[in-house]
Amino acid sequence: MSPTAHSLPTPLLVLDAEQLDRNIDAMAAVRPGPALRPHVKAFKSTELARHVARRGGHDSFCCATLREMEGMVAAGLDHDLLLANETLDTDRLARIVEQSDGRITVAVDSTETITAAAGTGASVLIDVDVGMPRCGCAPAEAGRLADLARAAGLEVRGVMGYEGHVVGEPDRGRRVAAVHDSMQLLRRALEDVGGGIASAGGTGTFDLHDWADEVQAGSYLLMDTHYARLGLPFLQALTVETTVISSSPDRGWAVLDAGLKAFGMDHGNPSADRWEIFYCSDEHTTVLPDQNGSLPGVGDRVALTPAHIDPTVACHESIHVVSDGEVVDRWPVDLRGW
Ligand SMILES: Cc1ncc(COP(=O)(O)O)c(C=O)c1O
Repeated sequence: MSPTAHSLPTPLLVLDAEQLDRNIDAMAAVRPGPALRPHVKAFKSTELARHVARRGGHDSFCCATLREMEGMVAAGLDHDLLLANETLDTDRLARIVEQSDGRITVAVDSTETITAAAGTGASVLIDVDVGMPRCGCAPAEAGRLADLARAAGLEVRGVMGYEGHVVGEPDRGRRVAAVHDSMQLLRRALEDVGGGIASAGGTGTFDLHDWADEVQAGSYLLMDTHYARLGLPFLQALTVETTVISSSPDRGWAVLDAGLKAFGMDHGNPSADRWEIFYCSDEHTTVLPDQNGSLPGVGDRVALTPAHIDPTVACHESIHVVSDGEVVDRWPVDLRGW
């Protein structure tokens, strides 16, 4: 008989198989096949990527690190892989291209990143700044960089522009307007660049792209409380199961065995259905009494929902897939590290 999640040591990443599949189906209904390029940075697991490919019918993926690219190639999930990020590591990129039977593309936004990609056999997308102060060239620079890339012998497939400053905007009207503004910039850059492909977007803007060819979303599969504020049609599929290791009803708190090292905290504390989170420290989360004034007892299990899914998953070695209360699979988080 399969174990239950409750019988395994904590902290434990627990993934609800049915909710995951509902998220895959909800996304595929709006962005089928190549209209979505799932971003593996959100879950860092080749087994989960394989499941998404089979069920969702998507066979091109995005990565954020060379480690993710290497793992996806080794797993044979490399039909069309995009490093949606900049790299200067020519040798490693060339090895990835050499080992892949598929198509490898990398984002470039400077002379240096073009020089690094030249001769590796990778194709490129010109990464354009569409409003988020991170990677991406100024829109007016995109055409010049595309010429430079072609002169260096690179195939330029088009443009990429990630509107990361917009994807978490809770007001849908404001999100719509901001995506429109960002895509105006990307559209003009594509005219200068040529190549045909426009790659953009994320979970919060998955249904707002009527122009971009493909959306790069990953969080939709597992979700977190930050994205839950947007009222998207995706369910909280992943929790971190914890155990109560100390409880002090007289002093008014109880302590769980997972803290800062088990959660990405940049979007705030994780949440519990019943208990209010007081604070997190390295290995602990302290919770306050519920509305009836009661606290969990020592040995009780408490499921916490992360505020930011990507860095939370990266804290753990494996994901336990649960169906009807039983652990039916264990998917290694094998794309961790750099
Ligand atoms: C380049 C890029 N594309 C897309 C995304 C979208 O991911 P999410 O599904 O979390 O919105 C991210 C997230 O950080 C990203 O860095």
